Amino acid sequence: MIDLIDHNEIVPAVNQIETHPFHQREADQALMRERGVQIESWGPFAEGRNNLFTDPVLSAIAEAHGKSVAQVVLRWLIQRDVVVIPKSVRPERMAQNLDAFDFTLTEEQMGRIAALDTGASLFFDHRDPAMVSWLGGRRFD
Ligand SMILES: NC(=O)c1ccc[n+]([C@@H]2O[C@H](COP(=O)([O-])OP(=O)(O)OC[C@H]3O[C@@H](n4cnc5c(N)ncnc54)[C@H](OP(=O)(O)O)[C@@H]3O)[C@@H](O)[C@H]2O)c1
Repeated sequence: MIDLIDHNEIVPAVNQIETHPFHQREADQALMRERGVQIESWGPFAEGRNNLFTDPVLSAIAEAHGKSVAQVVLRWLIQRDVVVIPKSVRPERMAQNLDAFDFTLTEEQMGRIAALDTGASLFFDHRDPAMVSWLGGRRFD
């Protein structure tokens, strides 16, 4: 992203990267903010990996607000100023996902979700040589 910004006239407006409770991207978001780039979540629900929809911490917070885990995750992203466009093929979930603006997570709840961060991707890591070589269709070692 820095190379793209430094070697081109136009700064990217948005950068969509994997961002969910298990990979929160605080440092990346800070760097983007510094450079005037808006972070957007790729895979806001981690595609359900790591049992996101039944996670005990997220479930307890959801219950406290009378909301679903999905709504808590969306609300957490919104309160962190992360743009999120959730996908669902089910109309009732689409309605549920739009209904995340009538409650606020407390600082304590935001802190409990912050503690879920593993700092690692659940999908792939562009800095992992094995992964990059697989993506490039060739081996570097
Ligand atoms: N550029 C493209 O053409 C393109 C295409 C596809 C995806 N993407 C990107 O790929 C990323 C990953 O998308 P993803 O959908 O696989 O991951 P995700 O956003 O983490 O969602 C995982 C799954 O959660 C389910 N879901 C949605 N709302 C829910 C709710 N309220 N309660 C329970 N489950 C719910 C959806 O299944 P259901 O549909 O069954 O509800 C969805 O498939 C997205 O951020 C998207 O931007 C890009």
